[in-house]
Amino acid sequence: MQSASPAVQSTSPYFDEARSAEVVNARMSADANPRLSQVMSVLVRHLHAAIKEIEPTHEEWFTAIRFLTETGQMCTDWRQEYILLSDILGVSMLVDAINHRRPSGATPNTILGPFYVANAPEYSNGTNICLDGKGEPMVVEGRVTDIEGNPIPNAKLEVWQTNDDGFYDVQQKGIQPDSNLRGVFTSDAEGRYWFKSVKPRHYPIPSDGPVGKLLGAMGRHPNRAAHLHFIVTAPGFDPIITHIFTPDCPYLPEDAVFGVKRELIAEFNQIDDPHAAKRVGFSSPFWSVSWDFTLATSGKPLR
Ligand code: BEZ
Ligand code: FE
Repeated sequence: MQSASPAVQSTSPYFDEARSAEVVNARMSADANPRLSQVMSVLVRHLHAAIKEIEPTHEEWFTAIRFLTETGQMCTDWRQEYILLSDILGVSMLVDAINHRRPSGATPNTILGPFYVANAPEYSNGTNICLDGKGEPMVVEGRVTDIEGNPIPNAKLEVWQTNDDGFYDVQQKGIQPDSNLRGVFTSDAEGRYWFKSVKPRHYPIPSDGPVGKLLGAMGRHPNRAAHLHFIVTAPGFDPIITHIFTPDCPYLPEDAVFGVKRELIAEFNQIDDPHAAKRVGFSSPFWSVSWDFTLATSGKPLR
């Protein structure tokens, strides 16, 4: 029997190992949504390339399927294990970087995380958001400006952080006071904001599920470098979702979700002066943090 000509072989609809991705992608309908068609064909190409490089046994492939099944089963209204998976693989940070390329000088974004709560209490500047009295007192103050340094009045600054035990209020309902260590502040006419809180500490991401098990199996820890979260918004400007990191945290270079950017590491100065403490309403040494946010005009081209 004569063998098929090369032209016939390269368009065969039947599966073969060498052309596996091509065979699958050839099934895509010309009527499929063009973006879906592009996304799926790229995924199929890369997935088949990975499988060819890994050459999994059936048992290994079943382990992978079981992991994905358990990841789905772990998801509830308040636990999104797939986002956690994306976080520990650096994919959340990559998607964020692609979607938030800012002009130089603008404050960079970092990961949102699962503990943001909309409609937190609105406070006047100077309010202490620490409601459980734990931790080392801290004052944060600074300005919100545009890239040219002009003040942005009436900017909204949403802030949230863990308590000194390393948990967000929403992880410990009934244990921590409601809205502990979260609040919304508004910049004044000079773009200034200030509030009181406690120095953040490092804490583990939720690690009691399949993603935590995977981290452990890879010899990685679940700790996030100590940080405060912020969302800063003002009409006419690109919203910023970001953090401020403490400079002395041992987990800065190995944050479990790759959220640290050098530009987001702040200076924390310890003030051991009773008069200064009294002026800000503390009775003991406190941490002082000065941090400015620089917003880019919406839709401004990159420089
Ligand atoms: C957080 O910073 O709150 C966070 C980010 C990613 C995963 C888990 C927690
Ligand atoms: Fe956090």
